[in-house]
Amino acid sequence: MVSKPELRIFDSLSELSQAAAEEFVSQAASAVKKTGRFSVALSGGSTPRGLFSLLASGDLPSIPWDKIYFFWGDERHVPPDHPQSNYRVANELLLSKVSVPRENIFRIEAEDPADEAAQAYEQTIRDFFKAQEEVPRFDLILLGIGPEGHTASLFPGTGALQEKERLVVANWVEKLKAHRVTMTLPLLNHAACNVFLVSGADKAEAVQGVFAGQALPAGLVRPKLGRLLWLVDREAAGGLAR
Ligand code: 6PG
Repeated sequence: MVSKPELRIFDSLSELSQAAAEEFVSQAASAVKKTGRFSVALSGGSTPRGLFSLLASGDLPSIPWDKIYFFWGDERHVPPDHPQSNYRVANELLLSKVSVPRENIFRIEAEDPADEAAQAYEQTIRDFFKAQEEVPRFDLILLGIGPEGHTASLFPGTGALQEKERLVVANWVEKLKAHRVTMTLPLLNHAACNVFLVSGADKAEAVQGVFAGQALPAGLVRPKLGRLLWLVDREAAGGLAR
């Protein structure tokens, strides 16, 4: 039984980021209370920058940084200090500014050959969750969507979309003429909660497509036993019926 997506529409990216930060804080508190830790995979791109800055600001209720474990849903095939690196953005805006222990941060080593990086990251995830066979369950996975409906680095028409076994794969993206390293749908769809952060008119067509049931990659994120929450600003929600 796939949960129905929750959709919340905001007047601005800044309000969306505030709501995302409150969601993060509340989910972290309940996960830590229940299991003693909070495992989260961050999304890449520019949309989450506001969330990262808010979390680092210290203006939110106390966050148990030492019990939070950071992963990434995908990474560009670049070194960690590259301007395109999703790790670099999160580290600069958030992780270097809060007291999260460095051993709680598990970046994708995308400076290595893509398939090696993917295999190593899958093992890192399996070791962390002590789940060598079954599919691990992240507490929270943050996601974005591209104008053509990709999410993480699952782009339309790419091989990674068909992956049914592996948790992390290298994915050749022809339109980018580049490899990416990405979590796969089996892992994304096993999370306790997937939250999409979406802002901007250039995403409106993709968002409308997802909610109209088109088989876009982002629309394939439908956690069977998890919560699916879309935080969308008014511009990106433009195509949704009121
Ligand atoms: C990446 C992301 C990707 C991103 C979307 C939206 O590595 O780029 O993981 O899936 O979330 O492309 O990107 P923007 O937030 O920059 O629009």
